[in-house]
Amino acid sequence: MRVLVTGGAGFIGSHFVRRLVAGGDDVVVLDKLTYAGNPANLEGTGVDLVVGDIADPEAVERAGKGCEAVVNFAAETHVDRSILGPQEFVHTDVLGTMTLLEWARANDARYVQVSTDEVYGDLEAGGRALEDDPLRPSSPYSAAKAGGDLQVLAYVRTYGVRASITRGANTFGPNQYPEKLVPLFATNALEGEPLPVYGDGKQVREWLHAEDHCAGIELVLREGAPGEIYNIGGEDHENLEVTHRILELTGADPSLIRHVEDRAGHDRRYALDDGKLRALGWAPGHSFGEGGLPETVEWYTANRAWWEPIKSGEYRRYYEEQYAERLRA
Ligand code: NAD
Ligand code: TYD
Repeated sequence: MRVLVTGGAGFIGSHFVRRLVAGGDDVVVLDKLTYAGNPANLEGTGVDLVVGDIADPEAVERAGKGCEAVVNFAAETHVDRSILGPQEFVHTDVLGTMTLLEWARANDARYVQVSTDEVYGDLEAGGRALEDDPLRPSSPYSAAKAGGDLQVLAYVRTYGVRASITRGANTFGPNQYPEKLVPLFATNALEGEPLPVYGDGKQVREWLHAEDHCAGIELVLREGAPGEIYNIGGEDHENLEVTHRILELTGADPSLIRHVEDRAGHDRRYALDDGKLRALGWAPGHSFGEGGLPETVEWYTANRAWWEPIKSGEYRRYYEEQYAERLRA
């Protein structure tokens, strides 16, 4: 199958590209190469990279030539950046999604939208979100992703586009831009820099390895039903527990932990019921604590050449804006 993978130069998208290429599919990547897109993530895959915006119909047309399916990873993805400025999030995550759906409609292509557990908002202890639960997004990021999901469902119902949605949990693994919890704390610990824990650190996230996330997305691409949504869950842990484990794995001192001013609108807990995808045959292959996190931290330890150049320029400006005041307080 010839597949258009948008956002394929980012973290999860590049894992997905490697997976499809290994399985013999023909892949084209469309990526705007924002701060989070990195052509180095595609090294050795041999895929064609078209640099362009998913909200630009001409770029989508050019990249999509001959493709039978599109899997949309392209998005602005970081909650803290969405709080600093939501505009790009609506542009890419809503308008970009609609532009890709128009292309899928015109070309009768299969469509998979890669979405997130964050669209359900936070859940009380014990509760688990099911696919048809109401959307209660809390951040400009999750609101934009929810907007994209609703566009997808409208295109299924109104135009008969063969689209499905996946909603994955917090994802970790190699090649993740060092702004999210695991790569930020691992690289800060390796550099002896403070680890800024928001609030009390007792927030709960489900952790899903990038390869397991991609296995779920591929299964939905091949066997998912149009109009259906599939949760892809992970292992739940409190942020402070993850933080202490990263300190142990890097050999860094617990005094690096700083409890800083909380994120505005911070969701306390995400949890997914992923029985529907498991019924299709999916099961995770990586445990978080037993292999997934140690291997990931090892990757960041061994691949300073990948992340050290990132932690300069634009990244520094963002880091200052997000953390300088918090760390001084
Ligand atoms: P990422 O930030 O690492 O990569 C995003 C990629 O999209 C980058 O390569 C970037 O250049 C590209 N991009 C951004 N705007 C674009 C545009 N307008 N046109 C074309 N390309 C554009 O993201 P990620 O963490 O790999 O997430 C991929 C997808 O998975 C996103 O849709 C995200 O919402 C979803 N998701 C992520 C997580 C997670 O924990 N990281 C969990 C669940 C779902
Ligand atoms: P993050 O990796 O940003 O993912 P998401 O917001 O999509 O869940 O954050 C994961 C958790 O870690 C979340 O509860 C916020 C917390 N966190 C911190 O405590 N400090 C930080 O510097 C970051 C980036 C996240």
